Amino acid sequence: MTVDSLDQLYEEHLQTVKDRTDRSLAATGFDALVIQAGSPPVQFLDDQDYPYKVNPHFKAWVPIVDNPRCLLIYQPGSRPRVLFHQPDDFWHKPATLPRGRWTDAVELIPMTDATMAPIHWAELGRVAFVGPGHVDAGVDSINNPALLSRLHYDRAVKTPYEIECMRHASDLGARGHQAALAAFRAGASEYEVHMRYLAACAQREEELPYNNIVAYNENAAVLHYQHLERRAPHTMRSFLIDAGAQYRGYASDITRSYAAGPGRFADLIAIMNASQLRLCSEILPAKDYREVHLSAHRILGDAMHDIGLTRVSGNEALERGLTSVFFPHGIGHLLGLQVHDVGGIMGDLEGGVRKRPDGHPYLRLTRMLEPGVVVTVEPGIYFIDSLLKAAHEGPNKSLIDWTIVDELRPFGGIRIEDNVVTTGGTPENLTRDAFSRLAA
Ligand code: GLY
Ligand code: MN
Ligand code: MN
Repeated sequence: MTVDSLDQLYEEHLQTVKDRTDRSLAATGFDALVIQAGSPPVQFLDDQDYPYKVNPHFKAWVPIVDNPRCLLIYQPGSRPRVLFHQPDDFWHKPATLPRGRWTDAVELIPMTDATMAPIHWAELGRVAFVGPGHVDAGVDSINNPALLSRLHYDRAVKTPYEIECMRHASDLGARGHQAALAAFRAGASEYEVHMRYLAACAQREEELPYNNIVAYNENAAVLHYQHLERRAPHTMRSFLIDAGAQYRGYASDITRSYAAGPGRFADLIAIMNASQLRLCSEILPAKDYREVHLSAHRILGDAMHDIGLTRVSGNEALERGLTSVFFPHGIGHLLGLQVHDVGGIMGDLEGGVRKRPDGHPYLRLTRMLEPGVVVTVEPGIYFIDSLLKAAHEGPNKSLIDWTIVDELRPFGGIRIEDNVVTTGGTPENLTRDAFSRLAA
């Protein structure tokens, strides 16, 4: 898709954001909305900033992700105005005013002095302010919970523009993953794999939607493994990479797992891949995502049984809490402007909560699926010391084949994660499609 047609989709997207905001402001008694892009915090006792991460509410309106201190002002019935921060600063290069067709849909106003901003909303009536930082004068409510709740609930359903941005983010991620796999096969260290990933998707680390997880061997058992070893291990057994990319502020979130050679672990990856594809096919309209999560436990429980790790069926393993020993996290989450997009456990616009199933405290998404909702599907099987120790001391001990555990523990774990769009029918798998485009 050309930039021009993406910009056309942006116009429709902006109209949807306006319509949703009009309804939300009316329901909560506000006349206008001011959204602050935010600014990076300064490090303690230093004059250096932390990396800047734009307020997701701001980038929902405009694809400006790299210029702190901007503000967006919206009054129903009028064009959104963006106060575009351009300070007189000889230490830094001020951002240049965005150009391109999308900018026709908004009014861009250069702003040299952010302290003057409040005059722009002084006459707008009751003003709601949404942002992370210091609040400028003249607003009636800051991060109003009832308003945020409505905006968050609506955001789960992505517009065609947002889905197209996520296709691009998936393409970038797929490129990074391809380069990372080649580096692993060539014997690179975790750190080198990470650097190859960044180069292949042409993103700086701070532009990624989350910190890459690049884990060899036992490190793959750490769900959010955060280190990058500078030397490759003597023996490479396994490789797990969880890495995404961003396009116009929208994220991809992709995980792949590999075995260095054939054997039971490689067989388990193949079974996991088939299981993951089955779960992706469950991303259907009017489906309760909690059911997808419980289905994952049954399917993975059967996979564990098939490779000899456990001694009962998937269904029984779920009932007994046995699957959670090896699969302790949720099957996935909402994805979009944030890697864990907001609103995952909401039941309605007013902020009602849809409960997690008992015994599944880490599930981040409990909503009903509907067309436009983008989720991840990320089953995993891991060999985590603390969970294995607890299982060894608990009632499920005899249901686990501990010789298989000992055989597989040095491989750490497996996760396979795709990003999937709920449609009116067959789900769209953004990740598999991106890898296919790359292969073609
Ligand atoms: N990369 C974080 C997650 O998969 O949820
Ligand atoms: Mn994820
Ligand atoms: Mn992930």
